[in-house]
This record gives sequence, C-alpha cells and structure tokens, in this order.
Amino acid sequence: MNLLNSNHDVERIIFNAEEIKAKVKSIADIINTRFKGTRPVVACVLKGASIFYADLCRELEMDIDMDYISVSSYGNNSKSSGIVKLTKDLDFEITGRNFIIVEDIIDSGLTIKYLRKMFQTRKPKSITTVSMLVKEENISNNDVDIYGFIAPNDFIVGYGLDYANHYRNLPYIGVLKPECYNDIGKES
Ligand code: IMP
Ligand code: MG
Repeated sequence: MNLLNSNHDVERIIFNAEEIKAKVKSIADIINTRFKGTRPVVACVLKGASIFYADLCRELEMDIDMDYISVSSYGNNSKSSGIVKLTKDLDFEITGRNFIIVEDIIDSGLTIKYLRKMFQTRKPKSITTVSMLVKEENISNNDVDIYGFIAPNDFIVGYGLDYANHYRNLPYIGVLKPECYNDIGKES
C-alpha cells in the first residue's frame, strides 16, 4: 500500500498536523510545570504512541529517562478484553521515581487501567498517565490523568495509530473508512 492509498482510505481528517503540534505543546506544558526540577521515567507504550512520544519528549524541559513497553491484548478483535500481557517490560526501575506512561488512545480504558495497577505494585513515587486521544464514550475515565483530544467513537488512524499496521505514518489523525476494515483488529 502506498501513502496515496492510505490517504484515500481516510474518511475525514479530524486533527491536522498543525493542531496536533499545538496540542502536544500544551500537554508538555502541563508536564513541565508538574515535574519541574525532577527526573521522571517517561515510558512509551509501543507502537501506537511512538510518534506522539517522540514529539512530546522533545517538548519536555527537564532531564528524563526514556523507556519503552509493549503490551498485547487478548480476546475478540473488535473490543479490548482487558486481559493485557506485558510483552516488553521497562529497562528502568521505577521504585521511588516519578513515572509517566504515554499512550496513544484510550478506548475501553482497560489497557491503561491494567498498566496503572501493574506498575503501582513497583511502588513508584507517582504514576501519571498521558494519552493523545480519548474516545468520547470514555471521557470520564479516571485512569487517564492528562489527555489531548477527544476522539469520536469511530476507528481512528494516523499519527502512530494503525489498522493492521497500516496508516501509522500519516501526519494527521483521521477516521478510517468503514469499508477498509472488516473486524477491527487492534494492534498496539
Ligand atoms: P483500550 O484498552 O480499549 O482502551 O484500547 C487501547 C488500545 O487499543 C490503544 O492503545 C490502541 O492501540 C488500540 N485502539 C483503540 N482504539 C483504537 C482506534 O480507534 N484506532 C487504533 N487503535 C485503537
Ligand atoms: Mg496502543
């Protein structure tokens, strides 16, 4: 699939590159204020958050430890089952550290809930969860501390978000045409 086809598969653009850039800056401002003078461990949830993470980290003004985790979600394809397996753990110890988890999108909220609970057992000084997007239907989710945009309850691609590993490198966030997916296979 070439990028021209990728663009063609997008029903509508919901946030363009310029809007995303401004939002990343405003999220970074919150983190810069909250964690000024500290050195947090900032973890990217691969692969969906990778582009957001790279942009966000470059807007952070304090020294950080960059780290990466990977999760896989089991169950049927169209909705997260909440049974999440950590397939790549942190390299850093987080006990006594300020720990920030960077996600791409909160849909059912089960993944972020699992991650928070699991990392809490390692007794960090604090856990802060950050997500670029939260689906409209889950806006009152208590497990995400800082989020960027509210997304419609459609299937979203671009800026790191994929469908079957396509569309991640689109520079904008858009809604995928329903005819482009059969069952929504979520790949983190
Ligand atoms: P949750 O556990 O239902 O909140 O789902 C979280 C994960 O599912 C995200 O980190 C994404 O990787 C994936 N996901 C959920 N909704 C979408 C979407 O609309 N587009 C692409 N990936 C999604
Ligand atoms: Mg993900």
